[in-house]
Amino acid sequence: MKLDAFSQPIPLRPKSPRTLRRWSAFIIGILVLFSYYCYWGTAPRIVAPSTFDLHQTLISVPSYEHVRNWSAYYTSETHVAGQGWKQAQWTQAKWKEFGVTNTTISSHNTQLPLPTNNQRIILLENDRVFYEPSLVDANTSAGFIPAYFGFSVNANISGSYVFCNFGSEEDFETLAQHNVSLAGNIGIIKLGNASPYVREKNLSIFRALSVINAERAGLIGVVLYTDPGNDGPITEGNGYKTFPAGPARPLEAIERGGFGNIEDENRDALPKIPCIPMSSFDAIQLLSMLNGHGPSAKKLGDRWQEGGLEYYGVDYNVGPSPPGFSLRIINDADILDTQVHNVIGTIPGKTDELVIVGNHRDAWGPGAGDPGSGSAALNEVVRSFGVALQQGWRPERTIIFASFEGEEFAQIGSLLWVTKHVDWLRTSAVAYLNVVVAASGSHFHAKASPLLYSAIRSATDLILSPNQSSAGQSVRDVWGGNITPAGSGDANRFMSIPCVSTVDFGFSPAVGEPVFPYHTGFDNFEWMDRFGDPGWKYHVTSAKLWSLMAAHLAEPSVLNMSVTDYALAFQGWLEEFKTRDLWSPEVDLKVMIDLVERLSRAANRFDSFARSLKESQCTLWNFWTKCGQNPAISGVNKVYIAFERQFYYEPGLDGHTDHHHVLFTPSAWHNTPLAMPGLSKSLQKGDWKNAQVRPLFADIYRVMVLTKTEMERYNN
Ligand SMILES: *[C@@H]1O[C@H](CO)[C@@H](O)[C@H](O)[C@H]1NC(C)=O
Ligand SMILES: *[C@@H]1O[C@H](CO)[C@@H](O)[C@H](O)[C@H]1NC(C)=O
Ligand SMILES: *[C@@H]1O[C@H](CO)[C@@H](O)[C@H](O)[C@H]1NC(C)=O
Ligand SMILES: *[C@@H]1O[C@H](CO)[C@@H](O)[C@H](O)[C@H]1NC(C)=O
Ligand SMILES: *[C@@H]1O[C@H](CO)[C@@H](O)[C@H](O)[C@H]1NC(C)=O
Ligand SMILES: *[C@@H]1O[C@H](CO)[C@@H](O)[C@H](O)[C@H]1NC(C)=O
Ligand SMILES: *[C@@H]1O[C@H](CO)[C@@H](O)[C@H](O)[C@H]1NC(C)=O
Ligand SMILES: *[C@@H]1O[C@H](CO)[C@@H](O)[C@H](O)[C@H]1NC(C)=O
Repeated sequence: MKLDAFSQPIPLRPKSPRTLRRWSAFIIGILVLFSYYCYWGTAPRIVAPSTFDLHQTLISVPSYEHVRNWSAYYTSETHVAGQGWKQAQWTQAKWKEFGVTNTTISSHNTQLPLPTNNQRIILLENDRVFYEPSLVDANTSAGFIPAYFGFSVNANISGSYVFCNFGSEEDFETLAQHNVSLAGNIGIIKLGNASPYVREKNLSIFRALSVINAERAGLIGVVLYTDPGNDGPITEGNGYKTFPAGPARPLEAIERGGFGNIEDENRDALPKIPCIPMSSFDAIQLLSMLNGHGPSAKKLGDRWQEGGLEYYGVDYNVGPSPPGFSLRIINDADILDTQVHNVIGTIPGKTDELVIVGNHRDAWGPGAGDPGSGSAALNEVVRSFGVALQQGWRPERTIIFASFEGEEFAQIGSLLWVTKHVDWLRTSAVAYLNVVVAASGSHFHAKASPLLYSAIRSATDLILSPNQSSAGQSVRDVWGGNITPAGSGDANRFMSIPCVSTVDFGFSPAVGEPVFPYHTGFDNFEWMDRFGDPGWKYHVTSAKLWSLMAAHLAEPSVLNMSVTDYALAFQGWLEEFKTRDLWSPEVDLKVMIDLVERLSRAANRFDSFARSLKESQCTLWNFWTKCGQNPAISGVNKVYIAFERQFYYEPGLDGHTDHHHVLFTPSAWHNTPLAMPGLSKSLQKGDWKNAQVRPLFADIYRVMVLTKTEMERYNN
């Protein structure tokens, strides 16, 4: 069955089963009593339950007109981290107006960098300014700040410059093999972050890593820019006009990004050389100066092709820059004492279990896609639950909505909130449902803990795809159902600190769709309205999916999760090691495979037991024993909640003292994270004794023992 706002009207009256009508007043009296205990607890009963269909409300409330308006508001003025107070207050007022009366602003002191007017890149001919790239690509009258990299170190340096492709380890090895002088030079490097085309070519690399590699290679500074070659077919060279005239990337767009935050316990690992962003318009000026100087990139192998600036006269020689010319980088940001403001809305449930639904609000520029599309969708989720509240509905579990500030600075807002509430989250949080970018293309992704697979599958089954190649296709039909390991945006903090099950999902561009001007001044309302999500269908679809996932987890008295999905995912990850040829003769993974087998059997039995509770609860004939405070139900729920926590590893993963989940690595929204990163790295190195491997074993044992013990406790 497909549910959609347009396919089915909201039922106005309940259909009472014919058998019920024949029953005596006595039976009806008992029924009322029984349903009181089973379904409403002590909540006020305003409407008869069967006249109200939560799912229908959640999928019929979100509207194109509303998300468009929310997007217009959020993108209208600056709201970079540290400047979020005004939009926090507005968001709080909206959520209260929607009916979530317990909405507060949770403010936290922190330090954030803000660029000064000294920030510059200058191309010098001897001591004369030959050319000066611009650091502005958005409307400064609306308060948008110049482009910079968050927590890149301050410095004022100069040197000749070289082109270093994506700045991967291989790229620097190649340059060294070709005797290109690197030490003391400045690197011009292509960002390999958010492009689906680059991802398909397996060339993705996170921005901070390019700079770390550059530092290791002896460079003294880095300029990062986004090459149109990242955009696959959608380029001016292929006849597409640039935005606003067409779907190609504007040459003036400057991609920003963050390197960390002030709380980061691994600040020592951050790059110590300065880094500054540049537009591809300015890259044309700087890189064409290298024409004829040093080896041609085209001769350096497959990784070095795809230069999108050839169309503009860049030959992609790697340099160094000709004698007499040098580059000066002045990175100068003030580290300010400031606050981030998280908006937290709470709908109290009947148990102390929590389902948290969140997104971030801060953006580098207007942020229509990242994160405005998520924030607009979140407002529709809150509004939908608000409508349900007005109908007298109350959730089984507490639902918390969160609009975090500071995700662009290594999730500083959620980090501080999660840290403050860590004990509460550890005991009570069922799940954190995150969206970074709700809409920017047609490709659906989900990164999740296996415990949330059933929530994702059931939501994507119920909602029609905005892009059906045959009528009636659901989001899942079009997407296919591949879920990758958990991690992304604020979900990283929920997963890494208290080990809460998380999902991050959304729609992003596929290769060949309009280019998402991620983290630039062009990620604005007009781009979204005309290219990113014309018709605003993907915003609305994300809102519906998000609400249904929340309801799936917040409503059933027995948590609708599956530990069997976890065991199957383990088997899949181990299989993947095999296909990726990571097994090595020194490493015997058989013991691991056996463990997963045993986990799988225990998990199966446990899930069946949980299902038997679901099926048997609250029928007319057994309600005396099964309804109300059934200890088996709360026991089973506790096991599902505690399951994810078993993967908590106190010392932290890979030396990261704040990444405690042994199975998942934090990642950026556009990267596909790796499962079992510790094990996978150990296998790559053939290092079986790596500290990361043993805790994983220990944890699987603990999980299995817990699962079995709990089953024995409740299965009688
Ligand atoms: C959206 O904004 C427009 C212009 O401010 C307003 O006329 C309209 O009523 C708004 N629509 C909704 C659904 O809020
Ligand atoms: C820039 O922002 C100002 C202030 O919000 C606004 O009046 C102006 O129209 C904007 N200009 C452009 C080109 O968007
Ligand atoms: C950067 O260094 C150069 C050379 O030492 C100096 O002339 C210039 O004033 C410095 N700029 C800033 C903003 O510190
Ligand atoms: C780099 O320099 C080494 C040593 O001078 C030389 O043997 C080698 O051929 C050079 N490589 C290239 C690609 O020029
Ligand atoms: C990228 O990697 C995947 C998985 O390892 C592989 O299947 C694919 O062929 C690779 N693509 C390219 C262009 O190398
Ligand atoms: C509001 O919700 C918070 C949890 O987010 C809770 O601690 C607080 O007691 C609630 N306040 C009221 C007045 O219900
Ligand atoms: C819709 O889906 C088709 C494949 O069925 C794909 O080729 C196309 O790019 C998609 N377009 C949009 C706008 O979603
Ligand atoms: C549990 O989830 C499955 C889909 O994964 C769904 O078919 C079923 O109706 C859900 N049960 C409850 C009680 O919500």
